[in-house]
Amino acid sequence: WPKNARRTEGVLTIAGVDVRDLAQQYGTPLYVYDEDDVRTRAREYAQAFHDGHVHYAGKAFLCTAVARWIHEEGLGLDVCSGGELAVALRAGFPPEKITLHGNNKSVEELDAALTAGVGHIVVDSFEEIARLGHLARRHGTRPKVMVRVTTGVEAHTHEFIATAHDDQKFGFSRGSGAALEAVRRVLALKELELVGLHSHIGSQIFDPDGFEVAAHRLAELLVAIRDEHGVELPELDLGGGYGIAYTTGDEPIDPKTMADSLRDIVARECRAYGLAMPTLTVEPGRAVIGPGGVTVYEVGTVKDVEGIRTYVSVDGGMSDNLRTALYGAEYSCVLASRTSDEGPMLARLVGKHCESGDIVVRDLWLPEDLTAGDLVAVAATGAYCRSMASNYNHVPKPAVVAVRNGRSRVIVRRETPDDLLRLDAEVEG
Ligand code: LLP
Repeated sequence: WPKNARRTEGVLTIAGVDVRDLAQQYGTPLYVYDEDDVRTRAREYAQAFHDGHVHYAGKAFLCTAVARWIHEEGLGLDVCSGGELAVALRAGFPPEKITLHGNNKSVEELDAALTAGVGHIVVDSFEEIARLGHLARRHGTRPKVMVRVTTGVEAHTHEFIATAHDDQKFGFSRGSGAALEAVRRVLALKELELVGLHSHIGSQIFDPDGFEVAAHRLAELLVAIRDEHGVELPELDLGGGYGIAYTTGDEPIDPKTMADSLRDIVARECRAYGLAMPTLTVEPGRAVIGPGGVTVYEVGTVKDVEGIRTYVSVDGGMSDNLRTALYGAEYSCVLASRTSDEGPMLARLVGKHCESGDIVVRDLWLPEDLTAGDLVAVAATGAYCRSMASNYNHVPKPAVVAVRNGRSRVIVRRETPDDLLRLDAEVEG
């Protein structure tokens, strides 16, 4: 739950704002962000990695307001598409603090990044190295480039969000020698300035071991590069992936412990190989924005499926939170609009979509007198929920509201059916 969430007599308030008032004013489903929670976490990472750089991974959730918060708290930003770049630039984010990622950036996206003058571009394929060299020549610029390395680390997380084992689409594998070949090709292009290596081992990770192995393997590569080319690359980007608590069983690593451990690992490796300590960059997304976000839904139907469980249907579902359906993600949820003296019933919180996999919370306990019109709140939906939202079944995306010091404001307005119809080519009338 967000740092400023409280529950008094069953009623949830966030930063002093009653969720019943929020539902009344803005409708449901509603994404609510505790602005101070997000800012504090951003600041904690910036302070913990004070001698390096923290780039917030915008894919977790980005809009103009969030880009501003991130900038004001002193972080840089990772974007992985032209769309995310456009949001950042619209927000006035300094381009030199932006890194562009992506395993298949289009020519338009690379062009936009060069025009804006982004700080770093992380190259991910041989085609891209050639393409970027060509474009940089045309632009008359010399972008700073990092080579994304697949370190072969098996991160202990869901298969879909692990990104450093060999059999997947990202980066250049270390084991096959592709990473060193990529370095050779970048160095051969005078239009590109190779500044470092990048690795991201996966997401929702609690165990620092994977980062340790990745850092070790990157240090070995830095040595190989020094030996072959006589250059010591000054930067190392270790990606993001720090896990957050979705349920009580999850134990996140705090930013300072994470920073100290990563710094120690890299320093030890560099000492062992006689390398200067590179500047470290990390890219937390979820750990910055996830815990501060809550989704508020209104209950529509409560269906007791005799002897099995009770299905509680809310007015959103897999269109505003795909994570349960896609990864089997777990969430915590409470009745947020009143207190209840009734005993708990085993429930499944489901959405309104035409699909039985449309589950928000698979198993949870809710009071037996739960009824239509009650509000429920799902915690830790700040990351990868709005950003992966869809319009499945032509359901408009919910509004996003920020709360702070007893006040609320819309930071992304709710879609309307007209917003969706606007793109149809043959609307009559
Ligand atoms: N850097 C790179 C290069 C990444 O690919 C990612 C995430 C991050 C940083 C940030 O990872 P974070 O700190 O947020 O874990 N949709 C999935 C997560 C996919 C993450 C993809 N890359 C989910 O909902 O769990």
